[in-house]
This record gives sequence, C-alpha cells and structure tokens, in this order.
Amino acid sequence: MKLVEKTKISAAALALLALSALSAGFLEATPAFAKDTQQRPAVLNASAVAVADKYAADAAEQIFKEGGNAVDAAVAIAFSLAVTYPEAGNIGGGGFMTLYVNGKPYFLDYRERAPLAATRTMYLDDKGNVIEGKSLYGYDAVGVPGTVEGMWEAQKRFGKLPWKQVLAPAIRYARDGFVVDEQLAKRREDASKEFGGKTNFDQYFGDLKEGVTFRQPDLANVLTRIANQGAKDFYDGKTADLIAASMKGHGLITKRDLQEYKAVWRQPVEAKWNGYEVITAPPPSSGGVGLVQLLKMKAMLAPQFKDVPLNSPQYIHLISEIEKRVFADRAQYLGDPDFYKVPVAQLTDDAYLAKRAAEVDPDKPSDTKSVQPGLGTSMPEKAETTHFSVVDKWGNAVSSTYTINGYFGSGVVVPGAGIVLNDEMDDFSSKPGVPNMFGVVGSDANAIAPKKRPLSSMTPTILTKDGKVALVIGTPGGSRIFTSIFQVINNNYDFNMPLKDAVAAMRFHHQLLPPNTIFWEPYQPIDGDLAKQVEAKGYVLKGQNFNGDIQAIRIDGDTPEAVSDPRGRGVSRVIQ
Ligand code: GLY
Repeated sequence: MKLVEKTKISAAALALLALSALSAGFLEATPAFAKDTQQRPAVLNASAVAVADKYAADAAEQIFKEGGNAVDAAVAIAFSLAVTYPEAGNIGGGGFMTLYVNGKPYFLDYRERAPLAATRTMYLDDKGNVIEGKSLYGYDAVGVPGTVEGMWEAQKRFGKLPWKQVLAPAIRYARDGFVVDEQLAKRREDASKEFGGKTNFDQYFGDLKEGVTFRQPDLANVLTRIANQGAKDFYDGKTADLIAASMKGHGLITKRDLQEYKAVWRQPVEAKWNGYEVITAPPPSSGGVGLVQLLKMKAMLAPQFKDVPLNSPQYIHLISEIEKRVFADRAQYLGDPDFYKVPVAQLTDDAYLAKRAAEVDPDKPSDTKSVQPGLGTSMPEKAETTHFSVVDKWGNAVSSTYTINGYFGSGVVVPGAGIVLNDEMDDFSSKPGVPNMFGVVGSDANAIAPKKRPLSSMTPTILTKDGKVALVIGTPGGSRIFTSIFQVINNNYDFNMPLKDAVAAMRFHHQLLPPNTIFWEPYQPIDGDLAKQVEAKGYVLKGQNFNGDIQAIRIDGDTPEAVSDPRGRGVSRVIQ
C-alpha cells in the first residue's frame, strides 16, 4: 500500500516537472523513447573513431575520456566538423545516421526537406527548360536543414552525457579558432571562384587562408544558444529568426518551415551477406539498396569472378555490368518513402537479384538501352559530403554521413549566424516526367514537392556478425558513395586485404549513363596498359576531379582498428 502511494506521488511530481519544463519551452521535442540507462560491461578494449579531420578526432577523444558513448562522440564530431570542416561539415544541411546500440539496429533520417512553397517546376523557365545554377547557388537552392534536429534526436535517445557537454568542443573551435590546413584553404579558394560574388560567401570565408587561426564568433553564438536551449533555438528561436530573415525577399524558407521540420527514425535496410548482417541506409537514400544489390549480385556471380584478379580489366568489366543494373533501378524506383512507395524488399530480394545478375554479359558491356535507364542517373550529383564512423567500448556503433551537397553548399551564409546553407534542392529531379535521351520517362519518384526529401546516395553502413559490430563504414562521393563502400568491403573481405590497403586501393565507378563510361579518381587514375585493356573491352574512361574519403572501423574480436582514407585529411584513432 505504502509502495503504491509512493509511486503515485513520484508520478505526480514527475508530471509537474514535465509541465513546468514544457511551459519553459524545453520539452518541445518530448522524448518519445525511454533512455536505456542500464550500465553494461565493456566488450571492446578501446573506443575508436575515423573522421574527416583532426579537430573532430580530438573532440571525440575528449568526449570518450569524459565517459561519453558512441552517440555522444558522434554528436560532438558532427558539431565540430560544422566549424572546422566547413566545406561539408554542417548545421545548415542534413544527413543520415545508422546506429547499432545495445545490440539493436536503428536509422535516423535528418535529411533536408523542400520548403512548403517549393514546386515541381521551380527550377524551370517559361519554356520549361532548367535554369542553370538555380538549384546550385544562392537562396533558391536551399532545403530546410535537418542536422541540428538529427543530433538532438540521437543524443536525446541514446547519449549518456549532458547535451551541453557534447557541444563544448565545437563552441571552443568556433570561438577560439582553429588552424586552417592546406586542403581546406584550397577548397575555400575554389569555392570563392565558383560563387564569384553571386552570394555573400566571401564576407564570411574570404579570410580563411592556410596557416591562419580562423574564428567564427557568430557561429559560436549560435552553437552556444543550441547548447543552452537545444534544437528549439535553431527551429523556433533566435537562430530560426535569423535564417528566416535572411531568406526574406531571396528564398523560400520561412520560420514555419523550420518549426515543422522533423527528423525521422526509419527501419534501416538489412540484408545477410557472407555471414554478416548488413545494416544500411533506406530511402530517401538510394545508397543502402544499391549497396545490398551490389554485394549480393557479386556473390551470385562467384563463378564468373573465380580467379579474376582485383581491378583487372575483366574485374572492372564485371563490376561495371553489375553497377549498370543497380543504377537502372535507382533511377526508376528510388525517392522519398513518405511520398512514394519504394519497393525496397523486391529490389533487395535474392530471386530478383539472381535474375538481374544472370543478365550480366561476361564478355562485353551489355547494351545500355536494354538495361532500363532513367533520368536520374544522367544528372551529375555533387560529391562533397563528409562521413564519420564511431564505436565505443560497450560495442555501440554510429555511422553517419551528412552534407550541404557541394563544398560550402549554396554559398549562402546566414548573416549574424555564420551558418553555411546547403544546396540540397539540386538532388531533386528538376525536370521530371520528360523523356530522357533513350525516350524513357523516369524519376517522378524524385520530383520536387513541399516537405519532400530529395533522393540521396549517402550510405552510412554497419556490418555485424553474431550480434557484434564488425565494420563501420561510409564516405562522401555523391553517386560514387555506395560503389566506393562496396569496393572497400570487397577488398577487405573477398580479397582479404588489410583494412588500410583496402581503403587505399584504386576505385572506379560506372553508373549506366553516360553509356559504358567508367570514371576513375585522381588519387589513382586508370592509365597505361590497364586503360588500353579496359578501352579494348568497349569502355570509355573518364577522370573525375574529386576523390572519395572513406572513414572505416573494423573490429576483430575485442579490438577495433580505425582507418581514414589517405585521399583526405581524415584522422582515425583508437582511444583506450
Ligand atoms: N548530396 C549528396 C547525397 O545526398 O548523396
């Protein structure tokens, strides 16, 4: 009896507390999930991170040393990169997070959404032609940002430390500054040329030069408000007002767009492959479906791959044949699942993929026209996203890829806030329903609509074996993202390369359109004899001007190994 009374009293007291917090405006996003506060024993002998720069690695190390878990570290990394990796790290963009927490998989979609005033034809002129650059530069290109809400949701559900504590490193970098390295300085210079006075970019970033200590006081103020008030500041507070004010007379985003933004917990794509459980990104990413299709079709074609050396002409041909089919599906079927029913189960079904794999011609490139193409694949996709991989000693893992699309996004910086805004609207199909060069109508699934999320290729991925995390991996690269992750997984598991070598090895890419064209990276071009032999098979070789940037952690037994791509300025660290 006494116990019942005590329970009643504490429930009433809790309700009162919740009410007063609500009226103070702090519980706007009331936790929909009870936090798992159960103490668990460590199962690994260390935590580990693989991230895009050393400042984010330092932030993660600090958080782990203060007792934080993988989610705390991931959120600290995301906010740090928004300051020190401003070309792609962000709070003005969005992304995806794949998690494995206490033995269960989760996926958080914090992708940008189209503003309420967006229309299907907003990037077309009177004659119905695409207005060049309108979805790429300036206020018109901006989708409603999701990163702050995403980090808030993830930390609220799974973090151990106080929210404020995980933002502390980012605030310090913004207020006290960080030293600019060569790669960032070069990217800033290129961006200044690209935006060429079309936006206010240089007013904020003109002084970002190699070797200088770069401070961002406006951004420090925003991050401090977010630390004190939570995501509410960004979506309904002073920061929301600054974003909405900057848009007035220029762009579509209003305060209502920000107030109505929601991150979404979705079912991740899960598949069995080679004794592992692959946990990866569902729509609105095309990446998870694409990765599973690639892995499964390659496994189904084992007889054709037998004795074929890695990255030989025949290997490049067979992989390209598989990629051709994956990209045909991508163009036809992938879009925002809140607006369009994406047949994920069918697209990753073994029987379906066996049929597709059987169409692969082992001798020559199959006719592009016969492989159901769509508009989406022909569109150049921006590649300049960034990724971070984290595991903690309790065996939890976070794989998150986030983006403002191109380097420095739309080139618009919110006055008084220092937030770089994305150009994610470019990931929609600007001109859907119009027949492509093969006369096929496609990509309606990815047409612009208010509140819709544009199709992405980001593929934050976790592999588990027997319920334990085995690999955490992701990369930037636009449509190259899932073909890159696929190749590293292949190198590592099928060819038994050490993770470091698997990440460093040559990568190539084919995506159905342009027909029979294989792209290579500047880091390791396809040239010399290899180029001649690939061309002799009927392919056109094309260089692209960017490299990927894989961040990966592999766990063997109880020991993590972390690797950052030698192509970037990433840092990987195992933290005792
Ligand atoms: N903006 C790149 C992607 O979402 O894949």
